[in-house]
Amino acid sequence: MVTKEQNEELTRVGPGTPMGALLRHYWYPVCFERQLDEFPVKKVRLLGENFAVFKTPEGQYGIVAERCPHRGASLAYGIVEDGGLRCGYHGWLFDREGACTEILAEPDSSARFRAGVCVKAGRAQALGGLVWAWIGEGSAPELPRYEAYVMDGVRDIGHTVLPCNWLQIMENSVDPYHVEALHGNYFEFIARWKGFEMPSAFKNKHEKVSFDPFEHGIIKRRLLVGQTEDSDDWKIGHPLVFPYKMWVGGNGVYQMQIRVPVDDTTTWVMFYTVHAPEGAAPADQMYPVDYEIEWVDSNGDYIVDYIEGQDIMAWVTQGAIADRPGEHLTRSDLGVVALRKMFRDSMTAVAEGRDPVAVIRQPHEVIPLPLERSKFGRGAEFAVQWIDRGSMRYSPLADDLKKLHVTAAAAVAAAAADQ
Ligand code: FES
Ligand SMILES: [Fe+2]
Repeated sequence: MVTKEQNEELTRVGPGTPMGALLRHYWYPVCFERQLDEFPVKKVRLLGENFAVFKTPEGQYGIVAERCPHRGASLAYGIVEDGGLRCGYHGWLFDREGACTEILAEPDSSARFRAGVCVKAGRAQALGGLVWAWIGEGSAPELPRYEAYVMDGVRDIGHTVLPCNWLQIMENSVDPYHVEALHGNYFEFIARWKGFEMPSAFKNKHEKVSFDPFEHGIIKRRLLVGQTEDSDDWKIGHPLVFPYKMWVGGNGVYQMQIRVPVDDTTTWVMFYTVHAPEGAAPADQMYPVDYEIEWVDSNGDYIVDYIEGQDIMAWVTQGAIADRPGEHLTRSDLGVVALRKMFRDSMTAVAEGRDPVAVIRQPHEVIPLPLERSKFGRGAEFAVQWIDRGSMRYSPLADDLKKLHVTAAAAVAAAAADQ
């Protein structure tokens, strides 16, 4: 049972809160790399604080608190220079460490004065078409190079901003039973009334589930009725990547679901998908394609005829911050309990001065994560159904992606027939 106080502690992400201190140990995407190439400075909000993120003409990224320490104008309306970011209002210049390096109309002897007027600075860098920021205290950890961001394939990012706390979205990632209920029975109900075919993969009943903590979060396994324990869904499973992602997919579609806590009641949700079916040619993309996904219609009703739309309905209707003291948990909620424990243990680690789970200090090339290769034992058909009845249906590349999977599967089948 979660008390009102515990719910506050689990969900408040601003500066000075225990969860805020924990979450400031990680890097987060704050915008698309493409955006800073189109215009080099942008206002962003992360963990309840406003920032200006920028890219200098030399190609270096920086992120500083939005408010100029001179008289409070927005640095998101500043001038980007090799030396950093210059406030648009009176021209004070701040370097990427946040130090004030120039004050107009003040002589050089003002160095001591300048020393007292630095702006809070984080670290920023680009990876996989996203610009990432770290806004914590002390020394910055490594930006984790999870497989999704470095693997070859066609990148497709559907995204939207949701009016709810990030934790209820994360709890959904360790809630396998919702798949047969929401994406099975409810989907079937909607399909019947609206008159369309639903994907068949989600109706299967769960026989058992398991949640195993590991160095990057929690591995979720499921055994569906009719599967053996040799199936990828049980043997390999897929992870919740602590503290704000889930890695999911198979059959040539690999997806990092990213939930950036913008503030206590706002989450930037991203479906970062890499299409890399066996037999496909190497991808040729300057940037990932990015597009907004839709989740309410013109009447203000949730759009529930696709998978992620159903999830969004569930996440948002739980409220801006889910009422955990009012819940009634059962055995189907074991994963949710395990995740809350991981958050509480991690807050304790931070309070004791230790690094929490999934903070990476070692430089590395790539971090592979466990993932079913054969999802629900299905092939290219799975990918096509996912595109048709998932958020990728909003992608400008939707038709090309379906073609990519079907063509690659045909090439693999032809090669096998030749042998
Ligand atoms: S408000 Fe930024 S330089 Fe004056
Ligand atoms: Fe779901």
